Parts: sequence; C-alpha cells; structure tokens
Amino acid sequence: MAYNKVIHTTEQTFTRTMPYKMFTDPRVLEEEMEHIFRKSWHLVGHANQVKEKGQFFTADVAGEPLLISRGADGELRAFYNVCPHRATKLEKQAAGKKKIFTCMYHGWTFKTDGSLNRAPNFPKDDPCLSDACLRTVRLEELNSLLFVNLDPNARTVRETYGDLADRLEAFDFLPELQFTHRKTRHLKANWKAFVDNYLECDHCHVAHPSFIKTLDMDEYQIFTCENYSYQTSIVKPDQNNLKDAESAGGDFFWLFPNLMLTIYPGPGNIASIELVPIDHENTTIVYTYYFREDSLDKLSQEERDLMTFAEQVRQEDIELVELEQIGFGSQAFEYGRYSPSEGAIVQFHQLVLEALGK
Ligand code: FES
Ligand SMILES: [Fe+2]
Repeated sequence: MAYNKVIHTTEQTFTRTMPYKMFTDPRVLEEEMEHIFRKSWHLVGHANQVKEKGQFFTADVAGEPLLISRGADGELRAFYNVCPHRATKLEKQAAGKKKIFTCMYHGWTFKTDGSLNRAPNFPKDDPCLSDACLRTVRLEELNSLLFVNLDPNARTVRETYGDLADRLEAFDFLPELQFTHRKTRHLKANWKAFVDNYLECDHCHVAHPSFIKTLDMDEYQIFTCENYSYQTSIVKPDQNNLKDAESAGGDFFWLFPNLMLTIYPGPGNIASIELVPIDHENTTIVYTYYFREDSLDKLSQEERDLMTFAEQVRQEDIELVELEQIGFGSQAFEYGRYSPSEGAIVQFHQLVLEALGK
C-alpha cells in the first residue's frame, strides 16, 4: 500500500500526509497494533493506587492483561497477568491488597515480586519450575502517573516525551490526586478520528458553546512538542467562580499515540482519555478521572460541575467524529485539508506514518 501523496497547506508543503483510507482499512489497524500500540507508553494509573506494600491493580494494554503491584519489598512492578502454568488470567480483581496471588485453576501461588511461591501439582524441585515466574513489563512513573510499555527496548518515558515532565511539574496537585472513577463508551469510528478531533480547536466555536463561554479563546494556544502536543488557555475574566480556582485554565495534552490528559478549571484534577481500538471503525473510549477523592460519592459540588462540563464537551465531540467516519468511507473523499492552526494534527499524522514506515 503506498500512501505518499503531496498535500498543500496554507503554511507549507508536506510531502507525506495521511490519506483517510487509513481510517477505514482493517490492515492498517493490524500494522498500528504491531508498530505503534505494542511499542508505545500507555498510562495505567496513578502512583497513589499502589502506595502501600501489597497494593495492586490490573489493566489491559494493547490486548495484554497486566498486573501492577507494589511488592512486600516496596518495589513497584508490572507483570503480565498470566499464569505461567497454563496461561490463566491470574488476578481477576480490578484492585486490592494481597500478600500472595493465587491462580484459580490449579492453585499455583506467586509472591508480590512475581516469583513462584508454590505449585501444588509439581514436585518442589521439578526443573520445569525453574523459570516459572510472572513475566515483567516495563513500568515507569512520570509526575505520579504510571506508564507501561510492552516493548523491552523502548526509550524511557521521559526520553520519549521530551519536556513533558517539566511541563507537568506546574500542576503541583498531581501527586495528591487519587483514582476516582473510570467509565467507558463505545465510539463508532476509527481511533485516529478521535485524536484528530482532539488536536484542533477550530471546531470549538461551532461545536462547544459552554467551552468557549468558559475559556478565553483569544488566549488559546496549541504547541507541538516531542511526541506530544498540548493546548492551553485561561478562564475568561468574567468567570468569577473559576478564575481563582486551583486550576484556573484548561490544559489539554495529547501523548502519541492514543492518550489524552485533560485538566479543567476548578479544584485539582486530571482526567485521561485512552482510545482502545476494537476494529478499524470501532473504538472503546476509556475515561479515567483523578481528583483528591477516591470515589465519585465523595466529590465536592465544584468537582461534580467540572465533570459535567467535561462530559458535555465530550458528547459534542463524539457526534462529530462518528459523522466523519461515515464520510471517510465515501468514494467522494480521499484526503483532508489542514488549516493553519491544525499543526498538531499534522504532527500526529506524521508520527503514525513514520511508525508504520510509510
Ligand atoms: S493455569 Fe494457573 S495454576 Fe494452572
Ligand atoms: Fe472538541
């Protein structure tokens, strides 16, 4: 498949640009899973979820079941959540605290450092148990956020995302936040269409009335950085209840390939949006909220208002993205056009094409 076509924009000429047939082709998603998703950093949670020895949570990353655990020795580790005896998913709970993990099939047990504790159906010194431990996965922390990578040879998360760690330092409430809530929703569109939509705000004036009423669009800026981009603005001067808030602006990060981090005006908060492809035209969107409280029923009115605001904007976007997907498949449409303020989309498309070697 050749996808090299010259597209002219008002700013410059890009010799490689993504044709939208790449948003409707199942073979492209297979390549993306191999060359992008299985080689990228993925956010799995917040360090406060595994603060104490024995605390753990489970996650799914690029189709792999994972187990993140703080060992009895205080070390934080990530494992494939797969029993080495017969591949059974080891830990079924979403989160908890344990001294030992027990496989429900034949009762093998594992210590919190991933080593085998007991294999009841084998003699103790059976040589085939010598390498029977949980397989580890790369895990790194960035400003209290926990990232994993299935590629043992990947660059570190700090090397990958340039100065992102420095930029996140400005949000000094991040270490105090906790996992509050996660929800999913189905999107009838290719995962890249959602990223495209997130990476520009030309549509904000048309589609997001509450957003442009709250945030000062004269101050709205979009920056492209190493393997990530971010959009930022302050609240409008007439927003009296928000301008002295702990977060007095909107900050919207995108990390290649499929992660968005949003910080809305109000009390300390961050939410992640992860796009998990189901197939080339269906995606699960995973929304995770982090506030100072560890459950929804403990949220303050300000935090509830913030969630309502964020969800209103998201709903407006989902409808647009699903309408796009209908057009992507049309023979009337082949290539899109970039506006001068859509540099973050250009960056995203170039990173995808580079990763796929196109
Ligand atoms: S599959 Fe886990 S103990 Fe047999
Ligand atoms: Fe939007």
